[in-house]
Amino acid sequence: MTVQLHDHPRGYAIGGPIIQMQDISLSFGGVKALTKISFDVNEHEIRAIIGPNGAGKSSMLNVINGVYRPQEGQYTFRGEKITGMTPRRAAHMGVSRTFQNIALFKGMSVLDNILAGRNMKMHANFLEVAFHLPRARREETEHREVVEEIIEFLEIEHIRKTPVGRLPYGLQKRVELGRALAAQPDVLLLDEPMAGMNIEEKQDMCRFILDVNDHYGTTIVLIEHDMGVVMDISDRVVVLDYGKKIGDGTPAEVRANQAVIDAYLGVPHDEPPAAANDATGKDLLAA
Ligand SMILES: Nc1ncnc2c1ncn2[C@@H]1O[C@H](COP(=O)(O)OP(=O)(O)OP(=O)(O)O)[C@@H](O)[C@H]1O
Ligand SMILES: [Mg+2]
Repeated sequence: MTVQLHDHPRGYAIGGPIIQMQDISLSFGGVKALTKISFDVNEHEIRAIIGPNGAGKSSMLNVINGVYRPQEGQYTFRGEKITGMTPRRAAHMGVSRTFQNIALFKGMSVLDNILAGRNMKMHANFLEVAFHLPRARREETEHREVVEEIIEFLEIEHIRKTPVGRLPYGLQKRVELGRALAAQPDVLLLDEPMAGMNIEEKQDMCRFILDVNDHYGTTIVLIEHDMGVVMDISDRVVVLDYGKKIGDGTPAEVRANQAVIDAYLGVPHDEPPAAANDATGKDLLAA
């Protein structure tokens, strides 16, 4: 990777904690997806979550935006204790996300998919829209402006009318980022935004993530398997393994952490290992 965080101008200084998780436990029947996880996310930072397959990374994002409700633990957002988070509430609180598997309307254009991300900001009712009443017209103009800005920002003007299903994978991932940005989030949760991309596409995605953070000040929580990317663009990294936290700190601290190195090198564990992981210990040490 050539994009380096320290080369990156920062529009917003990192602030205090916006998300605080304390002793979060989540299980599905007998499967413990998360066991007493505590970690925080500071305002305006890029916070990575790493770990082998099945470590609980996606589960953690799903707790943050209320898809999963943990059985135990305390969740604080902007200093407010949250009980019963739901995806809708998270969206209203300024949390937006992308998914591990692309979730776009494949038959719809890039423009319409990104416009769909404005959903939460649409207030005009059906009649106001149907009769082009002033509020509906005002909102429509505002939505278009936001969407056009995102399209320009992500450099996808040339495909704005193309149905998403016809685009190569890397561009679909970029459109999904655009849709998440359309909600103008304070916190952006990205679940493996670079999975399946080639090096060039990854570099583009890194640049967009850094630019979003710098330009809009968006706090970013990022799950990523590519250690080069994680080491380059994140401010702090939390490491999960079998639902437990085994490391937390700056990229340099995490890289030097023996428990983390062992997890990535596959040092024998008392439980059977999860499916093969594309991030090997070698990657971690080389990053
Ligand atoms: N909805 C669910 N129902 C049952 N088990 C689940 C569910 N979601 C996750 N799990 C289990 O919880 C554990 C953690 O899964 P999770 O998807 O959070 O891992 P991950 O770190 O994101 O893995 P990957 O790198 O493969 O995406 C796994 O054992 C998984 O099978
Ligand atoms: Mg996952």
